[in-house]
Amino acid sequence: MPKRKTVQDYIRTIVDFPHEGILFRDVTTLFSDPRGFRMAIDQMLHPYAGERIDKVVGLEARGFILGGAIAHQLSVGFVPIRKKGKLPGTTISQEYKLEYGEAIVEIHDDAIQPGEKILVVDDLLATGGTASAGIKLIERLGGEIISCAFIVDLPDLGGRKVLEDMGMDVHVLCEFEGE
Ligand code: PRP
Ligand code: MG
Repeated sequence: MPKRKTVQDYIRTIVDFPHEGILFRDVTTLFSDPRGFRMAIDQMLHPYAGERIDKVVGLEARGFILGGAIAHQLSVGFVPIRKKGKLPGTTISQEYKLEYGEAIVEIHDDAIQPGEKILVVDDLLATGGTASAGIKLIERLGGEIISCAFIVDLPDLGGRKVLEDMGMDVHVLCEFEGE
């Protein structure tokens, strides 16, 4: 019998994108497949069955696709963390480091109430810079982060350790080593 495909099998690798030497892990091929997408959402949710989650926070941009589906499944609200200048209301901001330079992410200052239980979602964990900036924003608003869920971890880039050192529970569906 042929082996059933795993979530990792649906992820396409593009060589030399966005620049030479980078293996880009492309989740659009996972999202576009009906079995792959459902499997990813189900597996991301699996550890939290029976746990209280008040809101799902998704990190721009691919975290929106996952976060929307997960929030719908849980019948809870969805909150976006966006790159600077995209949110229309009053926001708080957090800087984070990129490979070259810095970036800023923002959240509406009324999007989370103190004590709300939050699940953070994104497609991929690399250095952990994006996720840790998001975590700081949520914690500044008084949100209690239950866990951070990702499809892909690139363990060689150390993001998981960065988040765990911040006291986070981290859940990933697959890893690509040797990045
Ligand atoms: C990618 C990915 C994660 C982040 C991970 O997003 O979707 O959000 O990088 O990297 P890090 O752990 O080193 O921060 P990107 O910034 O390329 O933007 P996008 O999701 O809007 O395409
Ligand atoms: Mg992203």
